[in-house]
Amino acid sequence: MDYKIALIRGDGIGPEVVEEAVGVLEAVGKKFGHTFTYEEVLLGGCATDAVGKSYPDGTAEKCKACDAVLLGAVGGPKWGADKPAEQRPETALLALRKDLELYANLRPAALRPALVDACPLKKETAERGIDLMMVRELTGGIYFGKRDRYQTEDRGTECTDLMAYSEKEIERIGRRAFELARLRRKKVSSVDKANVLETSRLWRSVMHRLAEEYPDVAYEDVLVDNCAMQIVRDPGQFDVVVTENMFGDILSDEASMVTGSIGLLPSASIGDTAPGLYEPIHGSAPDIAGQDKADPIATILSVAMMFRYSFQLPEEAEAVEKAVDAVLAEGWRTQDIAEPGVTPIGTREMGRRIREHI
Ligand code: IPM
Ligand code: MG
Repeated sequence: MDYKIALIRGDGIGPEVVEEAVGVLEAVGKKFGHTFTYEEVLLGGCATDAVGKSYPDGTAEKCKACDAVLLGAVGGPKWGADKPAEQRPETALLALRKDLELYANLRPAALRPALVDACPLKKETAERGIDLMMVRELTGGIYFGKRDRYQTEDRGTECTDLMAYSEKEIERIGRRAFELARLRRKKVSSVDKANVLETSRLWRSVMHRLAEEYPDVAYEDVLVDNCAMQIVRDPGQFDVVVTENMFGDILSDEASMVTGSIGLLPSASIGDTAPGLYEPIHGSAPDIAGQDKADPIATILSVAMMFRYSFQLPEEAEAVEKAVDAVLAEGWRTQDIAEPGVTPIGTREMGRRIREHI
C-alpha cells in the first residue's frame, strides 16, 4: 500500500529529527512492503522568512490531500511574542489543528524500561512504572476563545481571553478517552477545576454521563491542581487522563518530565477524519539546532503512533517501538538522556541504529 505523508520539517531541530523519522519510515516500508510518498509543507518561522507568514495559504488543503502529517517542531526566538500574529509559528500550529479538526491530542508519557534511572522521581516510584496517556482537548477552550485588549479609565490596559466549551466538544473528546481506556488499563481520570470554573462544571457533567455508558471503565474526577501534584507524587496511578486544552498543555509537559526526557515523547493529534498529525512534544530547541545533537526518538515514536492510529498497522508500530527500546537497551544515548560518564551519540547515529533494528 502507498501512503502519502505531508512533511512539515519546521524550525530549529525540526528538520534534523524529521530526516531520521523519514529514514525509519523507509526502513519499515522496505520490511513490510509499503511505500511512502512525501509532500513537503512549509509552516512556522521558516515560512515567515520565506513568504512573510507562518501559515501560508493552502497549507490545510495540502495536508488534507495526504493520509497523515508528520511535523518536526516550529518556533524560535527570532519569531517571538512581539511579532504580529500571522508571523508567529505558534499561530500556524493552532490554525492547522483547527483547520484539520484535530480535536484529540494523545500524549503518552511512559517510562521506557531502559531509562528507569532517568526518572527524576524516587526510585520506588519509578520502579512501580509510569504509563499514562494524556488525552488533551486541542481545538477549543481558552486557546481558541475570543481575545480582547482595551484601555480602561483607571486601570491602564486590560485584556481578556475567553474559555468556552460546548457539550458537543466535551463529549467527543470524552468518548475518545473512554475508548482508549478500553484498550489499556480501563481507567479514566478526568481533570477539571469544577470548584471554580463553569466550563469545568459542564465538562464534569458530560464526563459523568459518559462514565455511565462505559461501566467497564473505572472513572474519577481529579481537580487540576491536585493532578499536578499527583503526577510528581505517584504517576503510576494514572492510565488515561482526559482534560481541556490549557490544562492538558501544562500537565503533558509535567508528565513528560517525570519520564526522564521530553526528547522521547511522541504525540498524535486526531479528529474524526484523516489526516492525523504526528509530532514530538518537544519544541524546536534552537540552542542545539543544526549540531547533530537533538534526540530523534520522539519523532520516530511519533511515526509509530502514525502507523497505529492513522494506518491501522499495529505490527509496524511495534516494530518501531521495539527498535527504539533495543537501541536504548544497548546503552546508546543522545546527550539529553546520557547518564554521567556515557559518551553521547548524535542525531544521525541514533537514527541509523534504530533503522538497523527494524
Ligand atoms: C504544545 C505547544 C503548543 C500548544 C504551542 C507551541 C502553541 O506548547 O503543543 O503543547 O500550546 O499547544
Ligand atoms: Mg505545550
